[in-house]
Amino acid sequence: MNKEIIFISGASRGIGLSMANYFADAGHIVIGTSRNNFKFENNSANLIPIKLDITCRDSVKNCIDSLKEKNLIPSILINNAGITSDQLFLRMKDEDWDAVVSTNLTGTFNLSKALIKNMLKNKFGRIINISSVSGLMGNPGQVNYSSAKAGLSGFTKSLAKEVGSRGITVNSVAPGFIETDMTSFLDCDAKNEIVKDIPLKRMGSTTDVTLLVAFLISQEASYITGQTISVDGGLYMY
Ligand code: NAI
Repeated sequence: MNKEIIFISGASRGIGLSMANYFADAGHIVIGTSRNNFKFENNSANLIPIKLDITCRDSVKNCIDSLKEKNLIPSILINNAGITSDQLFLRMKDEDWDAVVSTNLTGTFNLSKALIKNMLKNKFGRIINISSVSGLMGNPGQVNYSSAKAGLSGFTKSLAKEVGSRGITVNSVAPGFIETDMTSFLDCDAKNEIVKDIPLKRMGSTTDVTLLVAFLISQEASYITGQTISVDGGLYMY
């Protein structure tokens, strides 16, 4: 694959960090962002950390403008940043809804909007949206999160139809339970309960997700678009 400039939101830890390291090691330039200031431990010159809150449109615009000035124009966008704020619906506060939808769904809109023009001009691009099994099967306590993630499927399909003729593919990846900070609140008993329902009998690793994304951005996946592909050990089959 050509060496590309890859933009990953939420790259300071978890799945985003795993993808950043993997793609930098493969020789791509990775612009990795996070809400807070951070550094990559891997001191590869291919890794560029940037502080960016993807819910703030002005910050997104300024960030992309400054990358363009440096001639660092991403051809691949991985919308990975996400948060949860779980609560049963009756107790869910407006703030829980707003924060989760604005990060997981509107953040994806903000970044895609800022980068799509250059992809159209270059007649090449890849957009990967990191969704969740929760958006496919629902999950009690996650009305906000599963709505935002389900919204990504509609976003993916509609945008894929609009830009396919220009060599741009848009796909979603729906992880199941992956060992990261996001699932670190689960104790051993809770994890054992979850694993019982997973045909492959284990939680996923960040590498499991990274390898699927690596395939979807590759030349070999150039005929795949508008899809939501699960990486969940068989937890949800549809
Ligand atoms: P994590 O909590 O370990 O990392 C999330 C990253 O997103 C961090 O770098 C954080 O700084 C960044 N982030 C959050 N809000 C942001 C904002 N407003 N602006 C910029 N960056 C922001 O999460 P994890 O587990 O690595 O998840 C990554 C993606 O995978 C998320 O979209 C999540 O919803 C999804 N996912 C994770 C699963 C899991 O089991 N860990 C399962 C299914 C989906």
